[in-house]
Amino acid sequence: MLILGIETSCDETAAAVVENGKRVLSNVVSSQVPLHAKYGGIVPEIASRAHIENIMPVLHEALSSSGRALDEMDAVAVTVGPGLIGALLVGVSTAKALAYSAGVPLVGVNHIEGHLSAIFLESDEVKMPFVLLVVSGGHTHLYLIKDYCDYEKLGQTRDDAAGEAYDKVSKLLGLGYPGGPVIDRLAREEGDPAAVKFPRVFLEGGTSDFSFSGLKTAVLNYVRGLKQERLSDRQVADVCASFQAAVVDVLVRKTVDAAVKTGVENIVVAGGVASNGALRENLRKAAEAAGKRLFIPSPALCTDNAAMVAAAGYHLFKAGKVAALDLNPQANLPLEKMHI
Ligand code: KG4
Ligand code: ZN
Repeated sequence: MLILGIETSCDETAAAVVENGKRVLSNVVSSQVPLHAKYGGIVPEIASRAHIENIMPVLHEALSSSGRALDEMDAVAVTVGPGLIGALLVGVSTAKALAYSAGVPLVGVNHIEGHLSAIFLESDEVKMPFVLLVVSGGHTHLYLIKDYCDYEKLGQTRDDAAGEAYDKVSKLLGLGYPGGPVIDRLAREEGDPAAVKFPRVFLEGGTSDFSFSGLKTAVLNYVRGLKQERLSDRQVADVCASFQAAVVDVLVRKTVDAAVKTGVENIVVAGGVASNGALRENLRKAAEAAGKRLFIPSPALCTDNAAMVAAAGYHLFKAGKVAALDLNPQANLPLEKMHI
């Protein structure tokens, strides 16, 4: 079964062809990072316009490099939310037109369903139920994934997402957008994670919720407190490593605790921040110590892409979740309410 996947929820215009939810025949991602970098974050109106320009070339490339034609597709799967509404509209409108013209079913995919499905493209061993940590620019959520369409939210950030904290700290240090990859690199290559003791916010009563805005403020206060016009490269690297250590400690502990509390053996991590080297390494050690199995997609499948959407589309299609042509995108679309 061939699924054409389309993803336009944020700042990546992406299309992919995936066979049987497993074999990636093509996976094309056009990143808008250079367009947004000078603003230090994503500008929604610019994102929508760029999606309009990019979507047809990206689709053509995804189909031609897959060696398959549109009329060979069994369904078209598209991200319907959560995300930027103007950006989502481009993908959803395009998917509807393609499904209608090719006479094939349309499948609406939650962006988080996409992220959690990336692991199925690479692993035959991962099985539901699993605890899912989604960490991206817009999400820091823990879910219990019992089956496709059966999702329970365990916790979420009460303020900033982890990726958002990376991006804001990066902006503050003058390192540009997106912050995650550059902070990850400086922390790994040059910084001392013990240089500054930034707070680890675990919140009251063993909750699975997160909070990262206090950490961001602590970094700001620390940098201001140095009263220097410009930090040295060494100081910047130390702040990066110390900030990253604080984020990673909390993510690791809460994720493994959630698996212990729910009694689930498997842990899956997804989203852009899941490509972080320190997070991957520390989670692996902590999961092993707790007797849990950890699954993380390779970095290219952690950040936004359409192969993950096609994979989710395959599983949803098999579960009979076909959308009508009046499908509308939704900026806020909680995963646990997606199929109720
Ligand atoms: O999943 P994604 O591509 O888009 C959203 O759905 O948000 O995630 C993008 C986020 C950005 O905040 C970026 O700074 C962060 O993921 N990110 C990282 C790394 N690579 C990307 N954060 C930490 N370490 C990384 N290596
Ligand atoms: Zn994402």
